[in-house]
Amino acid sequence: MRATAEANPNIALIKYWGKADVELNLPVTGSLSLTLDAAPTRTTVALDAGLDADEVVLGGAVLSGRPAQRVERFLDLVRAASGRTEHARVDSVNLIPTGAGLASSASGFAALAAAAAAAYGLDLDGRALSRLARRGSGSASRSIFGGIVRWHPGDDAASFAEPVDAPGLDLAMVVAIIAAGPKSISSTEAMNRTTATSPFYAGWAESTPRQLDEMLEAIAHADFTAVGELTESNSLRMHATMAAAWPPVRYPTAASVALLDATRDLRADGIEAYATMDAGPNVKVLCRPADAARVEARLAEVDPTADFLSARAGEGVRLIDEPA
Ligand code: PMV
Repeated sequence: MRATAEANPNIALIKYWGKADVELNLPVTGSLSLTLDAAPTRTTVALDAGLDADEVVLGGAVLSGRPAQRVERFLDLVRAASGRTEHARVDSVNLIPTGAGLASSASGFAALAAAAAAAYGLDLDGRALSRLARRGSGSASRSIFGGIVRWHPGDDAASFAEPVDAPGLDLAMVVAIIAAGPKSISSTEAMNRTTATSPFYAGWAESTPRQLDEMLEAIAHADFTAVGELTESNSLRMHATMAAAWPPVRYPTAASVALLDATRDLRADGIEAYATMDAGPNVKVLCRPADAARVEARLAEVDPTADFLSARAGEGVRLIDEPA
């Protein structure tokens, strides 16, 4: 009747961009990500027969409006699957700024899925939990697992994430938080606008499965350079589809572009670093763990106002003992 779970954010190396089914959050293409070992979300779900509506608290503040509805709709799915009808009190703490393209919806819905499933008495395996988390936020399907994770396209039954073996590949991710404010346009709205209006979207849908195959090949061979090049290329392609949408969607700011330049300069200096960006202005730089401190120092020089998070591969979602 009460459970607490923790999940970490993940950053896609091959992006999810575009829904084949908006209601079910089925992606047009497969994607692949790295679950980080930093900035988890911790969520407690407690059933309470005395409540006549769900109560959702995020970072100590009661949620209302659309963000609250999104959680309530998600709990409706869990209630339908469990046969229970009680409402719940949800208490969630994000250790990264919410809504700034830092994957807080991924860690958030992964933690909510695990805590809600346990609280409502559902016994789900990793696949089922991934499919459930997907309904909250597509990228949350990947935060169920640790390390490198692949999320399959397909119908409701087939579209789950699973871990990918990556022997010998040691990755670090330096996250530059250049703006912690709310994003200008939600990822769902931006995706739907892109698929509906961008003449470049067809090229994305056709080429991303190929880049995903190349990425899996690069991972199997622990080819760090190929992993990095594919990561940077796929991100630029995703943002190009948005630039061509109408009205255009443009997440990178001048500060973002300065960090993309700095990443290219690092490579020119012999430090292998590759940038990727999501639905916000922050820049995430993939590098070898031994280079992470130098990468962060260079980015900090270019943007002294940025905050940094230096992460490596982290674990998947876990139920945790109730805080005392
Ligand atoms: O999970 P959503 O609906 O917030 O979409 C995330 C989309 C990107 O972060 C831009 C790409 C990805 O694959 O995570």
